[in-house]
Amino acid sequence: MKSDKYNKIFKHNKDWVANRIQKDKDLFEKLNEDQNPDFLYIGCSDSRVPANIITGLDIGDLFVHRNIANLVTNNDLNVMSVIQYAVDFLKVKHIVVCGHYGCGGIHAALQQDSFGLLDNWLRNIRDVYRIHFNELEEFTDQDKKLRRLTELNVVEQCINVIKTSYVQKSYIKNGFPTVHGWIYDLKNGELIDMNIDFKKTLKKVQLVYNLK
Ligand code: CO
Repeated sequence: MKSDKYNKIFKHNKDWVANRIQKDKDLFEKLNEDQNPDFLYIGCSDSRVPANIITGLDIGDLFVHRNIANLVTNNDLNVMSVIQYAVDFLKVKHIVVCGHYGCGGIHAALQQDSFGLLDNWLRNIRDVYRIHFNELEEFTDQDKKLRRLTELNVVEQCINVIKTSYVQKSYIKNGFPTVHGWIYDLKNGELIDMNIDFKKTLKKVQLVYNLK
């Protein structure tokens, strides 16, 4: 049986369409023709971090990819296709990797437990831990350690985005996209720009992963 919560979705949708058409009667016709978003957002699947709502970006403004713990791995055809499409065809100006404090994926990766199939996915976060082992082992406060791993995971995933040939080629040719690391804080709703130095990171990445 469909619950009230379920039915409410379609009622809301009807109201939303009516409301948007009232403000701009051609909106859906225009959107049906094309999309021209400036941003690609790669974030966590967590229900508490909805990309459009936390950024205030409207329908058509944000190309979105979400997975557990906002990972960018080179053997994931899904995220790699999203990045290539966003860069080569949509010509986005910014690619954002957005992690969040309180991330269940990060938390699970720090536990010495097995989670079945998920272990393969979480291993990417454990790899981040291994890369930054010395820094992370210094933490005695578990919450602070989790927060730092969340930040370092965002940095490493930004590097994984920059490693792709699509991003490097487009940046050299067009001067975009630039890659940004953000953190969303579940505790207060605040969105934090980590201000990653894109040019410096790109230069460093190109020393090893130069794909002209
Ligand atoms: Co998460």
